[in-house]
Amino acid sequence: MSHRVALLPGDGVGPEVIAEARMAVDALGLDIEWTELPWGSAHWHEHGRMMPADWRETLDGHEAVLMGAVGDPSVPDHLSLWGLILEIRQRLDLWANLRPVRLLEGIPTPLAGRGPEDVDMLFLRENTEGEYSGVGGRAHQGLPIEVGIETSVFTRVGVERVLRHAFELAEGRRGIVTSATKSNASRFGYVLWDEVAEEVAAGFPDVRYERVLVDALAARMVRDPGSLDVVVASNLFGDILTDLAAAIQGGMGMAASANVAPGSAVPGLFEPVHGSAPDIAGQGIGNPAGAIWSATLLLEHIGEPEAARALMAALEDVCRTGPRTRDVGGDAGTHEVGEAVASRVAELSARAR
Ligand code: NAI
Ligand code: MG
Repeated sequence: MSHRVALLPGDGVGPEVIAEARMAVDALGLDIEWTELPWGSAHWHEHGRMMPADWRETLDGHEAVLMGAVGDPSVPDHLSLWGLILEIRQRLDLWANLRPVRLLEGIPTPLAGRGPEDVDMLFLRENTEGEYSGVGGRAHQGLPIEVGIETSVFTRVGVERVLRHAFELAEGRRGIVTSATKSNASRFGYVLWDEVAEEVAAGFPDVRYERVLVDALAARMVRDPGSLDVVVASNLFGDILTDLAAAIQGGMGMAASANVAPGSAVPGLFEPVHGSAPDIAGQGIGNPAGAIWSATLLLEHIGEPEAARALMAALEDVCRTGPRTRDVGGDAGTHEVGEAVASRVAELSARAR
């Protein structure tokens, strides 16, 4: 069966890592028809928007999108993010942001005395509401009495679906759900979050549910990452905790993510957790591992689990043996790592035949 996948390389280091992810997927020999979308900051400079007005119709013909990152120093970040990634997540209602956090063999972690056996967490971040609902405003602009108001929005439907999904995921893993909350200081949204979590937990007697204040959770991720299995968090908390998680798994270049709406037919969007990395863009040194890992999540999403496993095995092999980029202790360039993964894919496929 032929697949239609959109490619949204974006800005900065995005196109560099996406080229490698695409090459690694192509090495699997699947029948994939790619559509390249030239959206991002260059599009903004040319047309005054990050993507065309009919972006939704364009994406609709695809099963999934593989994205790099957007953001450029020449465009205010709130315009580039709201003009593309946040718009897509909200309008397609991609409410589940999944971020697998494993420390792969061969990749150094800043946690002293920890290894791959200590780090295997799955973060599920609520992706459409909470602190990033886009509700708020500015008044008295430019005056000394200026004010900015940012409102968090927690809906029962939004909270329930993400919590339920966390329990379903935990059933297929080690059976622990840790819910990040702040219901001591935030008296409304997170109290609702906790109440719904209790209700959902009651339906999953085989899963251990714990509720942990987000600040204490951050400390526990460093002190005892092995005690965490599935971590479910709001949009803001999930955003912050997963950068910490990325550091634990070797850095921003390693971390992968899926933006999906489980149970719906809308295209999923798959992207490395990192941004456009303007500090290293254009140098050919960005780590493509997070982008390649994200491609494995995409392959699962489009119903190619064997190909996903093969690509992940190839990535794990290359992390173990090298070449590795400098952010994870090596001296190779982006393309060298991409080529190593692609040729490992070809070897593994030949052996399977
Ligand atoms: P960033 O993730 O781009 O960079 C943070 C640090 O991680 C930098 O030191 C960078 O060199 C390093 N890094 C990132 N990707 C790497 C890779 N593949 N290999 C090795 N090192 C890597 O975050 P930052 O600097 O806060 O944001 C830069 C731009 O990206 C901003 O415009 C921001 O708005 C945008 N951004 C976009 C995202 C998206 O499109 N989903 C997500 C996060 C940020
Ligand atoms: Mg982030």
